[in-house]
This record gives sequence, C-alpha cells and structure tokens, in this order.
Amino acid sequence: MLVTAGPTFEKIDPVRFIGNFSTGKMGFAIAEAFAELGAKVTLVCGPVSLQTELKNITRIDVISADEMFHACLQYYDTSDICVMAAAVADYKPVHQELQKIKKSENTMTLELEKTQDILYYLGKNKKPGQILAGFALETINGIEFASEKLSKKNLDLIILNTLEDEGAGFQYDTNKINIIDKFGNIFIYKLKSKKEVAQDILKSIALQI
Ligand code: CTP
Repeated sequence: MLVTAGPTFEKIDPVRFIGNFSTGKMGFAIAEAFAELGAKVTLVCGPVSLQTELKNITRIDVISADEMFHACLQYYDTSDICVMAAAVADYKPVHQELQKIKKSENTMTLELEKTQDILYYLGKNKKPGQILAGFALETINGIEFASEKLSKKNLDLIILNTLEDEGAGFQYDTNKINIIDKFGNIFIYKLKSKKEVAQDILKSIALQI
C-alpha cells in the first residue's frame, strides 16, 4: 500500500518556505497499523521529525508537493490501497529566488501557482480493484465539503477532520474523524488517540474490499 504523511514545504528562497503545521502523526499511525498486519507499505513523507522502526515500511522522504507527486506516481500502479494523509500545499511560489530575498518595502507580494492535486490525479487514474482514501480538513460545513471532495477526486472513502473539534487535527496525539464512503454512508467516531483512529480507518478500508 501507499501512504502519504506530513506537510510539504514550498521553497521561496534558500532560507524560506511556505508550509503548514502538519506533524505527520496520523499518516505514520496509518502506515504502522497496516504494516503490523503484514502489509508492504510505502510511506511518502514530507518534512517530519518522526521515525518508524517497522521493517515492512519503506520510507521515501520528500520536501515539496512536486516531489511528493513524483514519488507517489512511482508506487501507485503497484499499490492495492492508497491513503493520502499528507497536508499538501495547494500553492507554491511561481519563482524560487536563488539568493535570499532582501527586506525592502513595507509590504511584499508573492506570486503563487497551484500545485498538482496528487489525490485528484490518482483518483482520475484509479484502476479496478484499487482502493483510494483521502482526507478532508475543514473548518466549516465538514460533511458537505468532504462529500464533494470524495466525488470530485473519485475516492472510495474520505476521512473528515474538523478543526472545530477540540483535540482534533494538527499537532495533537488525538483526532476526531468522520468517515464518508462512496455509497454515502457516514461513520461518526469519538475523540481517540491517532493509533486508535488508524485502526478505525483500517477497518473501514477493509469493508471496501
Ligand atoms: N491533496 C493532494 N494534493 C494537493 C492537495 C491536497 O493530494 N495538492 C490531498 C490531501 O492529501 C488530502 C485531500 O487532498 O487527502 C484533501 O486535502 P484538503 O487540503 O482538505 O483539500 P483540497 O482539495 O486541497 O481543498 P481545499 O484546500 O480547497 O479545502
């Protein structure tokens, strides 16, 4: 299987980047839950400070959304199950400056362009029998926005995190999720440790097989 985890960093100049607060804990917990059952897992991760000891996890470290996309392409065709848990940057600077940008005016503007939506690409190129799961991080209208992403990205299931829930999302060891599947079923879970949440995700994926 293929799992992504962590943030991506999009370089502005040699010392600065655009990033986000993802720690990679949820993606690592998912990779470990499957690996403990014997799955051969490729874990593509952005810049994180986590380690994993499990032998059947092959870790591929990347920095940017472009690098994550190319790493995923390399392993997608041979993966039966894919869970995209990374918080991929949606935009990257149009130009990466070769030298450090010097401070000048009181305000500055960076021109950004969209990154490749990895999950969208994988959904468009999904083969019969492959199971593709994504995440949706929302602050309002969680079920509605996540359901839209599920169909737009051709997913089998989507795991919704709502930052409105205390203890859920980035930087916590806990998470509170809802899972929506392609049949429109909605599964609501309590706040749990990310390890336990990974088990819930694993069980819902098993139900799709
Ligand atoms: N994702 C991805 N590539 C991107 C952006 C997102 O693969 N360039 C994946 C994430 O890994 C996640 C899912 O898409 O599994 C949803 O990410 P999210 O940020 O919630 O949604 P977006 O599609 O980026 O939409 P928006 O930020 O507008 O809510």
